[in-house]
Amino acid sequence: MTMLEVIEKKKLGQELSPEEIRFFACAAAEKSVPDYQLSALLMAIRLNGMTDAETTELTLAMRDTGDVADLSSIPGIKVDKHSTGGVGDTTTLVLAPLVAACGAPVAKMSGRGLGHTGGTLDKMESIPGMRIDLTVEELLRQVREIGVAVVGQTGHLAPADKTLYALRDVTSTVDSIPLIVSSILSKKLAAGSDAIVLDVKTGSGALMHSLEDSIRLARKMVNVGNLAGKPTVALISGMDQPLGTHVGNALEVKEAIDILSGRAGGDLKEVSLTLGGYMLVLAEKAKTWEEGVRMLEEALESGAGLRKLREMIQAQGGEPAVCDDTGRLPQAPVRKTVCCGRDGYVREMDTVALGLAARALGAGRLRMEDQIDYSVGFVLMVRIGDRVQPGTPLCEIHARTEADAVRAEEAVREAIRWSDTPCERGKNFYAVVTRDGVTRL
Ligand code: URA
Ligand code: CA
Repeated sequence: MTMLEVIEKKKLGQELSPEEIRFFACAAAEKSVPDYQLSALLMAIRLNGMTDAETTELTLAMRDTGDVADLSSIPGIKVDKHSTGGVGDTTTLVLAPLVAACGAPVAKMSGRGLGHTGGTLDKMESIPGMRIDLTVEELLRQVREIGVAVVGQTGHLAPADKTLYALRDVTSTVDSIPLIVSSILSKKLAAGSDAIVLDVKTGSGALMHSLEDSIRLARKMVNVGNLAGKPTVALISGMDQPLGTHVGNALEVKEAIDILSGRAGGDLKEVSLTLGGYMLVLAEKAKTWEEGVRMLEEALESGAGLRKLREMIQAQGGEPAVCDDTGRLPQAPVRKTVCCGRDGYVREMDTVALGLAARALGAGRLRMEDQIDYSVGFVLMVRIGDRVQPGTPLCEIHARTEADAVRAEEAVREAIRWSDTPCERGKNFYAVVTRDGVTRL
């Protein structure tokens, strides 16, 4: 078999055989064929698509190019959660301790920021001393002992995705459903959990902007996850504005702690509890997601969730006192409140622009080797649908310098769109996708 024959077949829109798909995944992992041929096949897949059988085969083949974590020494059903990425999306830090406090083990491997989106690992590293590079043995021991760990990828997982992801980024082939599904699920399957809850974002800040595309992506992920033997459920959630009010690494940790302390509510809390409710169902700790949400609310009110976060921080070498005093997190030297200059309603937010504004302040990387400033970002004080008047605070910017704060103010002002008449509030959830089909909410 040659790579040229495989490219030719997909160019003509034909279905690839399992052998051809495995050949491609191995070639990507071993870099045994040139990038231009891998890229040509990626574009043929982007243009001509893949059947569910092909996508499943590609996912499994990519998984099998590296290690598969063995979590079987942790008792119970391990449920993973994955978000397709967004801004102000700190659900992991809220739901992992709550779900663990309800008795379901969570061994979660998270990622770093990408483009306009933040990453859980970067947020966690804003906690002084926190380690995210646990060995597999340390991860297993920690989850057996306290029920929860959130870490970077351990071991050598799905190396084919490393090659393909980097090529997709620079060949305009990121937005392909079979390529997204195989990229995300090959890593999730290699991470070793027994079941998966997917948070597929839709809206201006999401990978897929339209609801119909988001549902198509979710259906395919749910089909492939279940075909791979892992019960998988997807929720379609809104990313038309940052999910939480806080954007930036230490600021997002603060919001998670405020929620777990009962001081803050809002959309981040609601989305975290709902995703967590589905995790408890898949972990067989709750019969329905509503029952799961009630269990999580109890863990929140009793303080059990915050205690679990404190244990996790302590176990991973971080300073647990941040849970009692978020002032111990890194603080930016400059704070600037941005106020509204007009009457009206918030109609839209350019969520990508807001994520990029946080990155420009120093909260994300422009190059792989860039050092993040954990303290910077902003706190949004309005949401879509809110009524404003001249002088209503819109946002508080946390910056390194006055000049950075001025640039961020301009970006934030440009990212918010106004209306003179009342507008609808964004929805948190649009649909649930299970192996039985799609339920619109
Ligand atoms: N995240 C991934 O890991 N892969 C994709 O293709 C898209 C988002
Ligand atoms: Ca993420």
